[in-house]
Amino acid sequence: MTSRLASPEIYPPAQRMAYLDAASVGLMHAGAARSINAWQEALAQEGTIAFDEEAEVRILDGLSSAAAKLFNAGPADIAIASGETPLMASLAWAVSPPAGSCIVTSEAAHPSTIYPWMRVAEATKAELRWARGEDHYVAPETIEALIDERSAVVCLSHVEYGTGQLHDLARFAERAHAHGALLVVDATQSAGQVPIDVEATGVDAVVSSTYKWLCGPFGAGVMYLAPHLQETSPGIVGWRSHEDMWDFQADRLVYPRSAKRFEYGTMAYGTALGAAEAIDYLLDLGIEAIASHNRAIAEELRLGLMDLGADILSPRNPLERSAILAARFPGRDSRALTAALEAQGVVASLRRDFIRFAPHLYNDSEDVEKALSAIRTALVR
Ligand SMILES: Cc1ncc(COP(=O)(O)O)c(C=O)c1O
Repeated sequence: MTSRLASPEIYPPAQRMAYLDAASVGLMHAGAARSINAWQEALAQEGTIAFDEEAEVRILDGLSSAAAKLFNAGPADIAIASGETPLMASLAWAVSPPAGSCIVTSEAAHPSTIYPWMRVAEATKAELRWARGEDHYVAPETIEALIDERSAVVCLSHVEYGTGQLHDLARFAERAHAHGALLVVDATQSAGQVPIDVEATGVDAVVSSTYKWLCGPFGAGVMYLAPHLQETSPGIVGWRSHEDMWDFQADRLVYPRSAKRFEYGTMAYGTALGAAEAIDYLLDLGIEAIASHNRAIAEELRLGLMDLGADILSPRNPLERSAILAARFPGRDSRALTAALEAQGVVASLRRDFIRFAPHLYNDSEDVEKALSAIRTALVR
């Protein structure tokens, strides 16, 4: 039996339903939601009285230090923007792999992980090399085999959004670096559910949105950049890109000598306050503790689903598993099953032709039981 790791008042909806959908949207930390709303309301009521120029310089500091702790980096190695996509896009243009080079990725990756690189490759004529697999799974060896001296970038989702396949960052960093390539990682499906240590793994860049496993809001994203990438020219620039953002002289642009050069403009800053609070809560509990809690719940669910006759599409190798479980029932329509689950208070999501379950720190064994019993009911209909 596995109990909830989080205090019940932090994620109240977890008491009303079996919410197994962190891979779509994690339940938001209640205090974070309150902070975001309070910040927005103060701005609405008082404008620059509530939010002056000094406050605007400092507003991203809390999230920078939370993300730095999360990735085992320094705050100056972190850039903040409104999500994974703009940060990845800005980085892809900064790197701009040239014609003759290639970008290696997996067909299991999320579109937002790789579209920015596809767009840049369209302009530079770099090649995209796709590792192909079977039934939503691409073996790490297949990806590795594509990395050679022509590779400029290896770009992967740390945890694949569909099956939850977990990639070994140290192994890919070593392979990429041996060929002079960068390892760029989208951690939107991993940050908050599995530990990420940029120093131990040697990864060059890590980008993540905050509204899934970090239990933060829509509208905030974080990026770690290794020092050598902090000297590149971002693809997206604006007034905040200058080393003194209040300089305002438009005929010069001097970037900060840090990852902060990738912060470009005004954003819904309240989201950064909320994301910091959400991440700090996870850090206090410990990401290792969350990972082992989630593994236990996912394993209970996996065994129960198999007993009910499910095909599990998530990796067989335990080292490649995360808390995401992809399942389908032979001869049954996954869309109809997902809807039947929701009607019984069990929230999961339909992806491609399978049901995706994603338990997190606010779930317990009772939620697993509820999910299994709802499936049992749906299967006899
Ligand atoms: C791996 C991954 N990256 C990125 C995203 C979404 O990116 P954004 O938050 O920028 O829309 C998702 C959403 O499902 C995802 O799974």
